[in-house]
Amino acid sequence: MKDVNQYTLTEAVKESFRTEDGSRLKFLLETFIDHLHDYTRETGLTHEEWIGVLNFLYDCGKISTPERHEFILLSDVLGFSALVDMINTRGGATEGSNLGPFYLDDAPAMELGADLSGGRSGAMVLVHGIVRDTLGNPLPGAMVDTWQADGSGTYPIQEQEQGQDKYDLRAKFTTDANGRYYYTTVLPKPYTVPYDGPVGRLLRAGNRHSWRAAHLHYIIRAPGMRAITTEVFFENTEYIDNDAVFGVRKSLIAKVEPVKKTDALDYQLSAKPDAKFRFDFVLAPEG
Ligand code: BEZ
Ligand code: FE
Repeated sequence: MKDVNQYTLTEAVKESFRTEDGSRLKFLLETFIDHLHDYTRETGLTHEEWIGVLNFLYDCGKISTPERHEFILLSDVLGFSALVDMINTRGGATEGSNLGPFYLDDAPAMELGADLSGGRSGAMVLVHGIVRDTLGNPLPGAMVDTWQADGSGTYPIQEQEQGQDKYDLRAKFTTDANGRYYYTTVLPKPYTVPYDGPVGRLLRAGNRHSWRAAHLHYIIRAPGMRAITTEVFFENTEYIDNDAVFGVRKSLIAKVEPVKKTDALDYQLSAKPDAKFRFDFVLAPEG
């Protein structure tokens, strides 16, 4: 019988898995075991702390439902999701940011120039820009899939019991021959991530707030290009420097400007905007 101690245990656990040499699975598993064991030795983890971590994960599982994935929220508040977004952003492409829990893949297609607001109160803003490739060429026929909270920080999908339509404040637009997209909507307000569960307990224990900076969500797709999931934030708004899920990047902050009476807008719009901002998206080739 081999004499296993706290230093040789790590190799013994790794060797117990018969994963294929050189495989990605072997690499992910062995690196995880290395870091988990290093963390345990380095912190001198006690039994109480060990069971505390496991019970915390158990609570995350208990509160999760098909609509509420507490582990994703945990990943978000630990910056794990942001880190995965960062390391998977292709050079030259728009930086990625949180998908969040409110995406629906069957949002209605809308014509360019449409108004998303559905008469909701809030500042009416023209959102416009061009979708390009990394060489700067416009991408006609690209899909701009967007969803957002309203002027009080609520997603309609959260208020279906109060009679809201879950498809409100979301749409798919197709860029025109010049790669342009444009529409009007209400500016969203900040809102809190769910904090009535174990992740909320963690935030409170760490004296952290649960607010997200106001943002619009986007998935941009075009044939032959790598799709991006990202968010657009607004200069000088609350929580822009301390978003609860670390979603904000400098390159994703737009400057909202008032629309002056004398401004001749380049677009046919179905509603009159009070403000406007431009945000161009850049997609890298697939592969
Ligand atoms: C959101 O952006 O909708 C979101 C992201 C992370 C956690 C909760 C909500
Ligand atoms: Fe969101």
